[in-house]
Amino acid sequence: MVERFYLTTPLYYVNDSPHIGHAYTNIACDALARYKRLAGATVYFLTGTDEHGQKIERAACSVGLTPIDLADKMVTRFKDLWKRLNISYTDFIRTTEARHRSSVEKLFRVIYEKGDIYKGNYKGWYCTPCESYWTQKQLVNGTCPTCGRETEWLAEESYFFRMGVYQDRLLSYIENNRDFIQPLSRRTEIINIIKSGLKDLSITRTSFDWGIPLPIDKTHVIYVWFDALINYISALGYSVDEEKFRRFWPPDVHVIGKDILKFHAIIWPIMLLAGEIPLPKKVFAHGWWTVEGKKMSKSLGNVVDPNKVLESVGVDQFRYFLLREVPFGEDGDFSYKALIHRINSDLANDLGNLVNRTLAMVERYFHNRIPEKGEDSVLKDVAFSILPRIDRHMNNLEFSEALKRIWELVNLCNKYVDEKAPWNKKGKERSSIIYNLCEAIRFIGILLYPFMPNKSSLIIEQLGIKEDITLQGLSSLNIWGKLSPGTTIRKTGPIFPRIDEDKKRMR
Ligand code: MSP
Repeated sequence: MVERFYLTTPLYYVNDSPHIGHAYTNIACDALARYKRLAGATVYFLTGTDEHGQKIERAACSVGLTPIDLADKMVTRFKDLWKRLNISYTDFIRTTEARHRSSVEKLFRVIYEKGDIYKGNYKGWYCTPCESYWTQKQLVNGTCPTCGRETEWLAEESYFFRMGVYQDRLLSYIENNRDFIQPLSRRTEIINIIKSGLKDLSITRTSFDWGIPLPIDKTHVIYVWFDALINYISALGYSVDEEKFRRFWPPDVHVIGKDILKFHAIIWPIMLLAGEIPLPKKVFAHGWWTVEGKKMSKSLGNVVDPNKVLESVGVDQFRYFLLREVPFGEDGDFSYKALIHRINSDLANDLGNLVNRTLAMVERYFHNRIPEKGEDSVLKDVAFSILPRIDRHMNNLEFSEALKRIWELVNLCNKYVDEKAPWNKKGKERSSIIYNLCEAIRFIGILLYPFMPNKSSLIIEQLGIKEDITLQGLSSLNIWGKLSPGTTIRKTGPIFPRIDEDKKRMR
């Protein structure tokens, strides 16, 4: 049976343009989606935008637009960026779409009819930037514990969701499924919150109206998180398309940032338990990027626009940096210095030179044709040994580790050329060395596809291979020696031009 793989990104708020934090999640998900497709899976890769709520309503008002006009404008910016970054999503969902609204209404009704929702009054603090409720005790110096900004006092009628009813079931799911919350270091924090007892959650608001009206009481709109989280089922047709829903649900992984783990590892699974829907297999919370040591913020004026970065260093180089620089799950620091250093050392020096000098030798010694095979298995052994390790890393979302394994082969190849000195060899010995290098480059080219789809295709094309990488798939790496001797290579210029260090202030 063909494996199916369902992965999701968070839905981005449309109050502002996308920044590198957003690009990071979508690039990581894209790498995973492409890897799974190469492995033969049918992938459903979902992304989209979160368009309701007070935050969006206020942002629209401040620029003199209606919320939906602001959303339309921002959606274009997100979609344009995903195109430029080569994000191969299957579906883009907006919470203002009818297919989403009907799913929200359906799940609400199911939970309401079970008796887990009741009407009451909410009194407490609210952080609009995070769209989160807080008690007095949770505030830190009177501000939001997540973002440090001012909170507002709310006192309004609201419907509440009895989350506590499901806390023991959620706890046992977490305890029985070690993979559910990743990385593991974040699991205890979630377990402790649940063990301390879950309070009823206010799931409707009355003080503004930019949201989905409550089916049973139109004076209320649904709380933006109770609305947005449902996208993960509405995109699959929860309310309309049972077959598609059954085919892809539950998700293999929800990829999110660490600040929104509580919503995905507590509130969302409890909504699903109440709706009698199976729980996701995994929620992976990645770390946050700072910029030159500082938190990225509009007020500091240091928000990094991914469009500018990709224009100055190239799309694949940018993708590579984000996934290689820090282990997924940990925080990282973005700087042009670090970006340029990585590009020049890993891409221009290690990989670029390897491809360049190997092809130059095919050109010089073999009239542009892949030479005859030989017996030496040094590169072959390492190439085969990294495959299962890369597979494990990708399944664990350890992108930087997967890249390190690929570089074990890249570095070995460079050492192999230096030690074997094919320029001093003749006949069969020389052709065997160069053949093995070309075949290793084929492995490297295919393995890099999830991370750098354009450059990977370029490497494969230069080897003279005409078949599309996605058609070749990972199964083409079951054999060492697939590259046919006699194939004419198509050498072009350097794949990764060095970047001038002086560019490090560009922005
Ligand atoms: N709309 C909610 C998510 C709803 S999901 C059903 C939301 N949106 S957001 O636009 O504020 O954030 C989207 C994602 O961007 C979050 O996963 C957040 O962690 C991530 N990031 C925001 N700033 C970031 C960095 N500086 N670095 C890395 N990721 C960051 O939350």
